[in-house]
Amino acid sequence: MPPIHSIMSRVREMRESGREIFSMAQAVPWYDPPQEAVEHMKQEMIGKGFHFYSPDPGLMSTRVALSREIANRRGINLNPASELHLTCGASQAFASALMSVADPGDRVIVLEPYYFDHVFAIQFSNLELDSIPMVESSEWCLPWSKLEEKIPGAKALVLVNPGNPTGAALSEQDIRRIVSLTAENDCMLIIDETYERFNFGGSKHHPWMEHNQEHVLTIGSFSKSFSLSGWRLGYLFGADYILEQALKVQDSVVICPSTPGQILLEKCLDLNEWVENRSAEVEHRLHLCKEAMKQSKGLEWREAGGGFFTLAETPAGIDSYALADHLINKYAIATIPGDAFGNTGKQHLRFSFGCLGDEELVPAMSALASVDLTDITL
Ligand SMILES: Cc1ncc(COP(=O)(O)O)c(C=O)c1O
Repeated sequence: MPPIHSIMSRVREMRESGREIFSMAQAVPWYDPPQEAVEHMKQEMIGKGFHFYSPDPGLMSTRVALSREIANRRGINLNPASELHLTCGASQAFASALMSVADPGDRVIVLEPYYFDHVFAIQFSNLELDSIPMVESSEWCLPWSKLEEKIPGAKALVLVNPGNPTGAALSEQDIRRIVSLTAENDCMLIIDETYERFNFGGSKHHPWMEHNQEHVLTIGSFSKSFSLSGWRLGYLFGADYILEQALKVQDSVVICPSTPGQILLEKCLDLNEWVENRSAEVEHRLHLCKEAMKQSKGLEWREAGGGFFTLAETPAGIDSYALADHLINKYAIATIPGDAFGNTGKQHLRFSFGCLGDEELVPAMSALASVDLTDITL
């Protein structure tokens, strides 16, 4: 069962019963979408077509706006007619990407600790899951020798950059190396950049900036950057002949992403500085969380170069589900148990620092600093 569902139901129940709970569990930003974009959408509501299907890959005007934004900010030139789809979130973009490139029985590599929804999609697509543990030190790093050993013969490698749940952000050198390793071995590289706007320490280099890019599929989301998670909006870009296959999945599963959402998004895409400010605020939260965790007893901070999370180490021998329960009951802090991210996640908890509202920051951080896991038995 999806772990987020049960944890967030618990958070809702506890809040309804009057308890204050600091949710550091699901990555839902504390901020609302840009107000001026919402106002613009309200005006558009009376217009013709607002409530109807858009073309399968999204409104052309929104695809043009997104491809322009990607070109201006990242220097990647896409043909909006054939190389870019708007999707129902990064989640559907991932399922479309996977089904477009892999057939039942094909081997697909993920790095562990993994984003569990990727694993669920690999499993329900009848693909062979090959989960390679990352190297853990003060941060989470790529396991190069294992990658070199396993990439030959694999149909696809899935990367999340910056990482969920690890917060690891790839360097330019890492990206170059992974692009050539996958290209040399005829392995698709599916890169999930849901957190690309929250990149603090890693490079902004992207696989499409490399010479060989035919084998790269990029997926992204507007759930975090513009806080549009309820509108279910993301994107997929890559080679046109692969996107042609992806369109079959898109049409049969969702037809198109939400039309009102695309109208809202189009306005958001002009507001680059707005997102940069949100990213700076998330980074501020990262520092507060790191300081608080250092004061706690028993939680070991893991460096995050981007994204919303740290996957902190916890004392040996304590089950992560029991520990997450203990933290919510005793300290009112909701987290995700590390076991949800695979074996490598054991003895860890994922903390999302990108969810806490301004008024929650002080009490949440003092609750976190007061955590004491010495001598507990669960
Ligand atoms: C790595 C990653 N990919 C995809 C998603 C889902 O994004 P969306 O809301 O766009 O479907 C998330 C959400 O937390 C995520 O962390």
